[in-house]
Amino acid sequence: MSSQTTPARKIVVGVAGGIAAYKACQIIRAFKEVGDDVRVVPTAAALNFVGKATFEALSGNPVSTTVFDQVDRVQHVKIGQEADLIVIAPATADLMARLAAGRADDLLAATILVATCPVVIAPAMHTEMWFNPATVANVNTLRERGITVIEPAHGRLTGKDTGPGRLPDPEQIVDIANAIASGVTLPRDLEGKQVLITAGGTQEHIDPVRFIGNSSSGKQGFALAEIAAQRGAKVTIVAGNTVELSTPAGAEVIKVTSTRDMFEAVQARATDADFIVMAAAVADFRPDTQASSKLKKGSDEDALSVIHLLENPDILATTVQRRTAGELSKTPVIVGFAAETGDEKTSALEYAQAKLHKKGCDLLMCNEVGVCKVFGHDDNQGWILDAHGGVEEVKQGSKLEVAAAIWDRATAFQQ
Ligand code: CTP
Repeated sequence: MSSQTTPARKIVVGVAGGIAAYKACQIIRAFKEVGDDVRVVPTAAALNFVGKATFEALSGNPVSTTVFDQVDRVQHVKIGQEADLIVIAPATADLMARLAAGRADDLLAATILVATCPVVIAPAMHTEMWFNPATVANVNTLRERGITVIEPAHGRLTGKDTGPGRLPDPEQIVDIANAIASGVTLPRDLEGKQVLITAGGTQEHIDPVRFIGNSSSGKQGFALAEIAAQRGAKVTIVAGNTVELSTPAGAEVIKVTSTRDMFEAVQARATDADFIVMAAAVADFRPDTQASSKLKKGSDEDALSVIHLLENPDILATTVQRRTAGELSKTPVIVGFAAETGDEKTSALEYAQAKLHKKGCDLLMCNEVGVCKVFGHDDNQGWILDAHGGVEEVKQGSKLEVAAAIWDRATAFQQ
């Protein structure tokens, strides 16, 4: 989550009456922790799930649901007028219907009707309600008016049923809301598109406990998946080793270990993809043998002191070659990543330009890496290079902001 600037942002957290209302508490805390001034505006129904006292204690501000409390302070317009960002989580089908109709029949609806700041809505409901044509129309109406309606997550709902309709993780909602507040938009330009993303680091085992690997966290790949799914794509992530990351709403994760596993998983899915983004930090070499039991100091000295390496296949270059050979059913836009350090003679950017031409991809995101740069961090920066010679600087921002910049370029790219 991005750090706080002064003066404190005024954040309104709207809460509607759904079982996921308790997760709003984590959202309120996340904003409070970075110093935001949080005002909670629940619907009357939300208070059936979480008490007013909880919202007041967490936010440090009074809580009311109706336009008739503190009338002298003209709350029904003041809260919306002063807000820098409004996040409604969870939003029910009923609340979205009221907002789409332009109602102002409680404090939350009146606040939205007044607001000119970014509004982010995270719906949560049963799958049938989410797919009901009335809800679909209401969501479209809200999106057309510039409100960001986040895709719900798939998974277990309140009863025994599963499907799309779960509230995404509070941390994901806060990250998306912060990105929206920083100017990121989520156009639905990837609707109906298949997106394939690699993320994390691959590992090459020496024995069952030792491996050759790298410190990639997978965060940038998952951020790319998050933004693509929120722009309407069907997303598959082929993930090597990553830190603990929630699956983005609307994405599927295939776990792999070695580079050859990743190679096979990508090649099997590349045929249907419209966009392929290779954000993984791939182990280029593997030991020529892998011991089936743990090597021991003393008895396995030879195997431990000298490890013979074999080169791994290049997943990105092979995918480009298959596209050129007409082996993929679509002509995907292919995006590579380059983690470069630069040296006395050659800059990181120059290395990246050479890499783009060598691999033959359409776009290449270049990050300058070092011991404390990029890997595992929540912020990223660099340049997006394209096959026609274009270079765009991507300013320091959260990995979601960088992901949005990459998608803006990838969707606009003409082969
Ligand atoms: N990549 C890949 N398969 C490999 C190695 C890299 O698909 N065997 C992809 C990465 O996912 C990334 C891009 O190629 O999108 C560049 O990765 P990088 O590690 O920077 O390049 P290398 O080809 O490994 O070159 P070097 O490490 O020598 O700079």
